[in-house]
Amino acid sequence: MTRFRPVFVEPTKSEALCDALEHKLPQVQRDIDAFLCENLPLRDGSAGRLTEAMRYGVVGAGKRLRAMLTIAVAEMFAVPYFRAIRVASAIECVHAQSLVHDDLPCMDDDDLRRGKPSLHRQFDEATAVLAGDALLALAFEILSNPGTHPDANVRISLVFGLARTIGHGGLAAGQMMDLYPSADPVPDEVFTCENMKTAGLIRYAVEAGAALGGCDGAQMESLLRYADKLGLAFQIRDNVLDRVGNAAIVGKRLRKDEQAGRKNSVQILGLGEACNQSEILAQGCIEEIAGFGGNARILSEIASFAVSRSH
Ligand code: IPE
Ligand code: IPE
Ligand code: MG
Ligand code: MG
Ligand code: MG
Repeated sequence: MTRFRPVFVEPTKSEALCDALEHKLPQVQRDIDAFLCENLPLRDGSAGRLTEAMRYGVVGAGKRLRAMLTIAVAEMFAVPYFRAIRVASAIECVHAQSLVHDDLPCMDDDDLRRGKPSLHRQFDEATAVLAGDALLALAFEILSNPGTHPDANVRISLVFGLARTIGHGGLAAGQMMDLYPSADPVPDEVFTCENMKTAGLIRYAVEAGAALGGCDGAQMESLLRYADKLGLAFQIRDNVLDRVGNAAIVGKRLRKDEQAGRKNSVQILGLGEACNQSEILAQGCIEEIAGFGGNARILSEIASFAVSRSH
């Protein structure tokens, strides 16, 4: 029988960031912003308008959860912090691009993102398309730069993995399924779509941190199982917030999926069961990484936060 649990959408004690994450995240947010600003110099003229728009889309906002994942995993394998920051910043560029394009009128038509006008509302649609394109290019430029890792094989595998994650077999295909679902999508289709559009990049964030540290074999497999569960749990929570969140806290327009007549995991499972399933997934995440002991503390805290967050 479906068990309905209370749904907390306002900040609650359980949602507050746990100790290690709370301590670490503000520094990571600052370091990512500093690195991105260095790589997005302000200029005069139209090119300057482009970098200004890119900064608007990627600097100074966002939870930086994907970045935190990469950095937390890299730290488990003693990767130098500056390398992890580079890869994490590249991932945040891709994530920001996906949001900038996701908000365009031809996609979700959203005018609010991260509590401020979406990029095409602040600038214009053409600038939003180009800023998104250039953010993607910047991500690959950062990853392939020798500063990211001295071993070209590692850099190639980072570039290859990201390309696979966001292309026609990944994020873009997931977005396509979201925009053009079949007439009456079965649950499998909906979960596949959510995995492709959201969980793939979350998986990559974990995989990239581990790859930087030369991790493979059974440890990599555990981390990837953690990531897959986390990614789906994260998107289910996004859908829960879309349904019952507080717009002022979430920082984006809500009830969009319902208005667009889109079936997402919350419509499929029902609100109570969606919350229940996301908590089960988060618990599964924690179990997957139990073997890493205290070294994986931040990963456990991220899993708990992902399903209790109010933004
Ligand atoms: C929002 O992602 C879009 C999804 C893939 C669900 P986040 O909730 O991580 O967005 P920011 O980066 O914190 O704004
Ligand atoms: C996000 O899905 C997926 C990507 C941007 C890749 P949504 O369309 O649900 O994300 P929000 O709710 O606009 O952030
Ligand atoms: Mg969308
Ligand atoms: Mg959207
Ligand atoms: Mg959403």
